Amino acid sequence: MSATVNRDPEAMKARELALQRTLTVWIVTGLMFMLLPGTFLGVWNLISITGAHSTTLIDPAWIQAHGHAQIFGWIGSFIIGIGFYSLSKMGRLPEFAITRSWISWALWTAGVTLRWATNLWMWEWRWMLPVSAVLELLAFLLFFLTVSGHRAEPKPGSPKAGGPPVWMFAVIAGSLGFLASLSANLAVTIQAGVSGIGPAIPHGANERLLVLFTWAFPVVTIWGFSARWLPVFLGLREPAAKFLFAALGVNTLGVIAAMLGWFIPAMFAVLASSGTAAYAVRVFLPPVKAPKTIGVHPTFPLFVRFAYAWMIVAAALGVCAVFWDQAGGLWGSSRHALTVGFMSTMVFAIGQRVLPAFCGMRVLYSPKLMFWSLALLNVGCLMRVSSEIAAYESYVPAMWPLLPVSAIIEMTAVTVFAASLLLTFRQPPAHLANAAQA
Ligand code: HEM
Repeated sequence: MSATVNRDPEAMKARELALQRTLTVWIVTGLMFMLLPGTFLGVWNLISITGAHSTTLIDPAWIQAHGHAQIFGWIGSFIIGIGFYSLSKMGRLPEFAITRSWISWALWTAGVTLRWATNLWMWEWRWMLPVSAVLELLAFLLFFLTVSGHRAEPKPGSPKAGGPPVWMFAVIAGSLGFLASLSANLAVTIQAGVSGIGPAIPHGANERLLVLFTWAFPVVTIWGFSARWLPVFLGLREPAAKFLFAALGVNTLGVIAAMLGWFIPAMFAVLASSGTAAYAVRVFLPPVKAPKTIGVHPTFPLFVRFAYAWMIVAAALGVCAVFWDQAGGLWGSSRHALTVGFMSTMVFAIGQRVLPAFCGMRVLYSPKLMFWSLALLNVGCLMRVSSEIAAYESYVPAMWPLLPVSAIIEMTAVTVFAASLLLTFRQPPAHLANAAQA
């Protein structure tokens, strides 16, 4: 793609402000999907499941509406928004990248909202499901085409490095996983529309898709961001490239196996790949430099380690699920160990570390709020994962009443996280705040 970047300082400043504005809109949109269609519906579903002591009486379309809003509406919006922003900053993305980011945002928001509403109200669902999937895919393709021609701009004076860093391969792999997820989503929604079996995607196909939607795109993208940022933020050694490549390869095989319905090798593969990825990013090894925790809560490195522990627990529970799941409790707990324990903890931790600066050179409103969001999320997740296995699988039925409690704790955590970022975005940029105090 040809470079048409205007180097005039005023134009560069205006461009930076425009980039920050688009990113802020992507992030606020993601927070809205996380809170309303995502978490509140998730809590409602869990309270209904607790009332019925079973998942079978709950409309699967509502459960899928919740999952889609969280994975695509929240995590997807964050990934696309940060992708547009950081690649525009790093490289020679043309001026029209900002316009494309706005168009992509409009298509994406319309697509995810339509999917959620269709799952709930079923209006013309045989048409609306594929339409929502097309809108989402178009939004992503606009992002993908804009950034795929990107080349990192060499920093002045830096020696010519030998090829792109390993984190970039992981981010590219995550983007391909995202593309595969949206393409598969379109295929199953067309199939549902044509066959008339819907709007919930049939259970077997949905179970396969969920492996793709989680392990192939958010997980891999988070590995990429970890390889990029953890050496700086946690003072870790540089990532072990060979191990990260091995993790990516084995993980891809695992996802392919799951798509073919071979869940036993699939789950062993994701267990192997998650252990290998944790080793590759050195997250459990002692740091070689002091972590950079200025402006965030000092427990930030601890929560990043908790997140990686959750990922391995999720993969191990996936292995248990293929052998022993009877009522969805092991699968459900594995999924939430991954989505809440790993993904959400990483987004809460790294998000509150980088987004204040990306969205307008601000400082985090309150490190204490950051701590409480992370602490409540992990307590709620621990309670949820353990009681889901015990209650759903009838090992310890006395644990049913803990499930709504875990839901309220997790809901409080996500509300505190959203408040923390929104209060941060309402503050003036750091240099203006300092000038006002002087
Ligand atoms: C905040 C509190 C949350 C609550 C109370 C909640 C509740 C639920 C419930 C009740 C289910 C139905 C299946 C089961 O019982 O396991 C479910 C499924 C699911 N949840 Fe959550 N959830 C929460 C957070 C999240 C987050 C943060 C994510 C992703 C980032 C997520 C992703 C999913 C996915 C992908 C499914 C499967 C949907 C499907 O079957 O298609 N959840 N959740």
